[in-house]
Amino acid sequence: MYGKVRPISPTTIFPISEVESALKTLHGAKMHGKLIVVPHANDIVKATPPKKPHQFLKENATYILIGGTGGLGRSMSRWMALRSWSAVAMSLTPADIEELITHGLEGMPPVKGVIHGAIVLRDVLFEKMTYSDFTTVIESKAEALAAVEASAGAVKTISYNAPLKSAGTLREAEYVVCEGLMYKLATVMMMESEDLDATRPLSNYPLGSLVAIEIRNFITREFEATLQVLELSSSGSIQTLAKAVCIKSKLVKS
Ligand SMILES: NC(=O)c1ccc[n+]([C@@H]2O[C@H](COP(=O)([O-])OP(=O)(O)OC[C@H]3O[C@@H](n4cnc5c(N)ncnc54)[C@H](OP(=O)(O)O)[C@@H]3O)[C@@H](O)[C@H]2O)c1
Repeated sequence: MYGKVRPISPTTIFPISEVESALKTLHGAKMHGKLIVVPHANDIVKATPPKKPHQFLKENATYILIGGTGGLGRSMSRWMALRSWSAVAMSLTPADIEELITHGLEGMPPVKGVIHGAIVLRDVLFEKMTYSDFTTVIESKAEALAAVEASAGAVKTISYNAPLKSAGTLREAEYVVCEGLMYKLATVMMMESEDLDATRPLSNYPLGSLVAIEIRNFITREFEATLQVLELSSSGSIQTLAKAVCIKSKLVKS
């Protein structure tokens, strides 16, 4: 191989604060060789700030952190406390969670959300996992959440199944699906539906893989449309996703 792998030449170096000029140079096809973007300690990276960054969590509200004594839970509690949000961080049994929600939050602002950070990790290949390991892992996630739901009283649930079935036109169906997606996305991202923009690309929102799976399952359940998780990220905006759902939905009259 000696003599066949050579250093790249010529190279043009841009600091990361000038990444825009670097990309323009690249697109302009006026350069030869390779373009290298290098980060330096004092570089300021230009980024478009989110429209309403402060609205991720509400003021004067309480958030319950299940598994809040764990690694991420502790750092999230600190982050919330620094911004004056009320956080109840806990690592409790389901019975303790019910007790806390039913009686232990007096005098605190209303509960506006639950951050589920409980986990018991049994890091083995599924085929080597014992049944006991499997149930222990699932219980840490499912039981705590079930306890929150059970004690949260009337959980607000909206069904989009019937309105979608009775939609008279494709346009109406798309409207129902779009509303449903906005509501679900807002719920899982702890935002207000009004803060979402149906025309913005979904990639602009913090959709992690677990959230994407939850949205996909919601689509399957509520709209009877089978989509791959990948189709969510590649679908463009919430509006175009609604169109794609309507095409696949068994509830939409053709
Ligand atoms: N760390 C990562 O790289 C990573 C990556 C992706 C996702 N996550 C997710 O982020 C979350 C937090 O992770 P972490 O690294 O902070 O975990 P961690 O440090 O292991 O903390 C887990 C927390 O869950 C609690 N817990 C365990 N079983 C419980 C149960 N049955 N009911 C209520 N609480 C229970 C633990 O309490 P005890 O200590 O009292 O048992 C502990 O406070 C998890 O949901 C995990 O899946 C983490």
